[in-house]
Amino acid sequence: MNITLTINGEQHPLAIEPWVTLLDALREELGLVGSKKGCDHGQCGACTVLIDGQRVYSCLALAVMQEGKAIITIEGLATQETLHPVQEAFIDHDGFQCGYCTPGQICAIVALLEEVKRGCVSAVTPDLSTPVSIAELCEAEIKERLSGNLCRCSAYNGILAAVQQVMGQNPPSPMAEVLVSDSGNQEISS
Ligand code: FES
Ligand code: FES
Repeated sequence: MNITLTINGEQHPLAIEPWVTLLDALREELGLVGSKKGCDHGQCGACTVLIDGQRVYSCLALAVMQEGKAIITIEGLATQETLHPVQEAFIDHDGFQCGYCTPGQICAIVALLEEVKRGCVSAVTPDLSTPVSIAELCEAEIKERLSGNLCRCSAYNGILAAVQQVMGQNPPSPMAEVLVSDSGNQEISS
């Protein structure tokens, strides 16, 4: 099928079979390899991209169904010289180790922030009639809302702190996070 996808603001004409997933079209046809293939079964979130502002597992989305939609991948979040604030926060808080899950995590967080602004609730929101604001979003809410993105390196402390920073909250200092994750019984001295 001949289709045109709008990815990161650019038009990409493609001739592809109808069963090709968006993830494979991005990686194999267009060379946009930032979106990662972890499970290829909708279970890990490594392939998360934004479609019309919603987070989507691109391994479960057919490319031919995305014509006319605005697709944003990790490659489209930074401008030429400026990282997206979520990307900055990941660096500030060591939100990654191998980095394989990171593009999906960051895309999911960008969508998460917009979902909270729209008043979307989660499975752990105490009162479904009273959505929480970004300033009030607690750890349990952040973890629940990111539960569709797994990290095999278990960089979850840093990821949580990065989200808190972007939300204007006060995450623990990066040194405290390192001491907590590295030391087990070691006391935090700062
Ligand atoms: S590769 Fe898509 S959810 Fe795992
Ligand atoms: S940083 Fe390695 S899988 Fe998350």
